[in-house]
Amino acid sequence: MRIFIVAILLAVAETAVTAGVRKCIWMHGKNHKREVLLDNIESPYQLAIDRDTNTLFFSFTARTDEMFKTAYFSLTTGRYAIVRGIRGGFANAVDTNTVYMGGEDGIYTFDYATKTANASSHIKEKVNVWQMFYKDGLYFTTYPEEKAYVYKNNRTVEVSALQNIKAMLIAVTNENDILYFNSSGTFLYTRNDYKHTLKNDDIANGFATDMNGNVYMSSQNVIYYFNEHSQEFERLAKINDVYGIAIDSDGKIIYASKKSINRVIPAKGNCTAVLNSWKKK
Ligand SMILES: *[C@@H]1O[C@H](CO)[C@@H](O)[C@H](O)[C@H]1NC(C)=O
Ligand SMILES: *[C@@H]1O[C@H](CO)[C@@H](O)[C@H](O)[C@H]1NC(C)=O
Ligand SMILES: *[C@@H]1O[C@H](CO)[C@@H](O)[C@H](O)[C@H]1NC(C)=O
Repeated sequence: MRIFIVAILLAVAETAVTAGVRKCIWMHGKNHKREVLLDNIESPYQLAIDRDTNTLFFSFTARTDEMFKTAYFSLTTGRYAIVRGIRGGFANAVDTNTVYMGGEDGIYTFDYATKTANASSHIKEKVNVWQMFYKDGLYFTTYPEEKAYVYKNNRTVEVSALQNIKAMLIAVTNENDILYFNSSGTFLYTRNDYKHTLKNDDIANGFATDMNGNVYMSSQNVIYYFNEHSQEFERLAKINDVYGIAIDSDGKIIYASKKSINRVIPAKGNCTAVLNSWKKK
């Protein structure tokens, strides 16, 4: 079932790719390009970065008895390996000292010493984790229920603001407002007035934060920055074929695409064609 949903989420991305590969990435009024960090990974998804160790965690399509597996990739050494000890590893989230990994049989923490999922850390109560986000507690969504929970002080509770509302992706802002994506779009729940407001119609596929807790969101073709002052998403970059994002310790965007993991880096030159198509939108 989960592979089916992923296939739907990614179908649009495939058609976008055949329409023409975009070489330039226009961002912050400057030309950028993609640097491929890791290649030949099938559909990397659900990225999370541990900035203390400069390690990226992600899931990918395994096509074995497990649909998905979790892997880690050191951005310092380039070492890449599958994380053992978790079944169907899919979702990843990072707290200051803890990496959480969710899969078909619940949530584990990552043990850096053995590079495996720590069995003694196993949080079993909600199986089939879809996505996770850490902010003063481990927020996660489940599949196929699309329910949002938060795990804190050894207890799992439903996210009260979303009790009768579906959520596939969840993020929490610095103001402690909740951003969530469901099949109707991406909504902002504001705690001060209990309102749920539609903020974006794209099919979102990932949330990420930078080191200051600012929230970013990716869809198949656009990376957005959530401006907490205006409470609106701003288009940051137009990139075809995005499967998920993370922000590294230098504030650079790392994104997954169909078969690779990439970083957006400054480039020489002037990308006028991209700039013009961007302005027309
Ligand atoms: C959570 O459980 C662990 C292991 O049982 C225990 O060591 C810890 O003190 C508990 N934490 C809280 C906040 O209850
Ligand atoms: C998504 O969230 C909105 C806002 O809370 C809600 O109105 C809508 O019913 C939800 N969509 C689904 C499919 O649950
Ligand atoms: C980019 O190129 C266009 C046309 O070649 C030029 O008008 C524009 O000033 C250039 N922009 C930058 C930032 O160099």
